[in-house]
Amino acid sequence: EITSIKDLYKDDFYIGTAIGDRQMHEADPKFMNLVAKEFNAVTMENSMKWERVHPRPGKWNWELADKFMDFADKHKMFKVGHVLVWHSQVPSWVFQDEAGKPLDRDALLARMRGHIGKIAGRYAGRMNSWDVVNEAIDEDKGWRKSPWFNIIGPDFMDYAFNFARETDSSAQLVYNDYNMHNPGKRAFLVDYIRKAKKRGVPIQGVGLQGHVGLDFPDILEFEASLKAYAAEGMRLHITELDLDVLPVAWEFSGAEISASFEYSDKINPYPNGLPAKVEQQLTDRYVEFFKLFLKYRDHIDRVTFWGVSDKNSWKNDFPVKGRTNYPLLFDRNFERKPCYDAIAKLK
Ligand code: XIL
Repeated sequence: EITSIKDLYKDDFYIGTAIGDRQMHEADPKFMNLVAKEFNAVTMENSMKWERVHPRPGKWNWELADKFMDFADKHKMFKVGHVLVWHSQVPSWVFQDEAGKPLDRDALLARMRGHIGKIAGRYAGRMNSWDVVNEAIDEDKGWRKSPWFNIIGPDFMDYAFNFARETDSSAQLVYNDYNMHNPGKRAFLVDYIRKAKKRGVPIQGVGLQGHVGLDFPDILEFEASLKAYAAEGMRLHITELDLDVLPVAWEFSGAEISASFEYSDKINPYPNGLPAKVEQQLTDRYVEFFKLFLKYRDHIDRVTFWGVSDKNSWKNDFPVKGRTNYPLLFDRNFERKPCYDAIAKLK
């Protein structure tokens, strides 16, 4: 008899999910009760990102973020703040002065500190973990050439962690990124962590975004990364887990192609439901990952799915809009899928 996924895994790690803006706003009891029943960790999918929470200078939107914190506290959940410093979903004014000229290093650092101080300060003592920096490393080329890097330089990441710590002395501070199985990215991050720790930078964890597919990534490379980050003393967070079963590769994501009708069967091959064979592949692949997570349970603090139901997954619109995708534990009617039962059966 299955109680809930969070109870089954309670001695291993938190089982988390993400809550969308609209879902938080509507707070449909059916949805919120399912979240509270099945999960013991939560992340806002968008509402704490700079463009949402701080869209204009001096303008802050706290409504959804506050509601999220209250909901999570009520159910004693592990609360994850996502995200403080990222190159995406950040307004362009952040990098400019009032005349529209690029900020200099000191001014941008002051702005970063002000933003972190405000949002991490508001939830200090309540937030359990912050994604302090997101996606700062390019696959094989070292630092991503984002405005943060271009204006401040490579120490922007040290500053972000230091600003977070000066604001919140208790939240676990995490670096989060995708393609974390990539050997070049792994080597670069391990090197950064070693040096940063010597400099006293308070980085405590690594978030491995789980935007995975049936054949991607190579599970052995993913394991090699878990091992490598754990060996540096990092707590591990599997973040943003969703499993894309559609054979849509990045080459289909160009605008001309996604607009072109003749590719639609490739972009959206299973609009009326997954064939049994693919459903089984999805289930097997989830089992493969959860076996790996259980192997590293001593190092893993949480495994967070990027949503609850296939109906609301961002994977229906990414990397191509208008698809019918099946990446999560619950189907479009919020019923448990075979992958849920298979993950549950591992315990
Ligand atoms: C995504 C959200 O799921 C979408 O709703 C939004 O439109 C774009 O961002 N890496 C991250 C997440 O760190 O914040 C992203 O979330 C997915 C990729």
